[in-house]
Amino acid sequence: IRARDLAREHVLITAGATREEIDPVRFISNRSSGRMGFALAEAARARGAQVTVIAGMTTAPEPYGVELVRVCSAEEMLRAVLERLPHATAFIAAAAVADYRPATRQAQKIKKTGARLTLELEPTPDILATVAARKHESLLVVGFAAETERVVEHARDKLERKGLDLVVANDVSQKGAGFDSETNIVTLVTRDGEESLPLMTKSEVAHRILDTVARLRKLARG
Ligand code: C5P
Repeated sequence: IRARDLAREHVLITAGATREEIDPVRFISNRSSGRMGFALAEAARARGAQVTVIAGMTTAPEPYGVELVRVCSAEEMLRAVLERLPHATAFIAAAAVADYRPATRQAQKIKKTGARLTLELEPTPDILATVAARKHESLLVVGFAAETERVVEHARDKLERKGLDLVVANDVSQKGAGFDSETNIVTLVTRDGEESLPLMTKSEVAHRILDTVARLRKLARG
């Protein structure tokens, strides 16, 4: 029943890690592999959707048959997302966006002096919240929540606070879940309920997320 059930969707996905520059040779980033975002891209394409991926740094193999746009910083990722948002029917924020960036980027390489050095950080824009705040009526918005305790409670709070349709919550303290892993253990939190899934591959998780997107779309159409 899954075959081409997303043929009318244009899915916009963020994936991977952003990279926030400190100076010409250094940056702040994280260990996201891009695997979850890329798995979503491949799964959505297989089900007939048009797919655009906005990706930061990744180590996972690139998805096949989708539009792939490369960006570095959170700021750039936000711009690339907003540019393509008018064409999207679903937005899935699977990227690990840096929460902070250096307040100033040094034009020259910072010299080593042997003394202590303080790096001042400022918050980055929240891409998911920005999209949810300015979304058009029919756009479905999906976010991820990585938590270490009271996972579903925090996820539901995020759903309400950011105005999302679905939050994919994972307990990153569990083995086989989260960053840089082939598998994940997630709970799908929607306004009408929650569904806890057992350990499965990120590809299977991707399909379960898209099953929910398809279900919510049907509900919205009535
Ligand atoms: O609030 P928190 O960072 O836990 O939310 C995680 C979700 O928000 C993920 O879906 C992530 O892709 C998205 N996010 C974002 N832009 C940020 C921070 C998080 O799109 N600056």
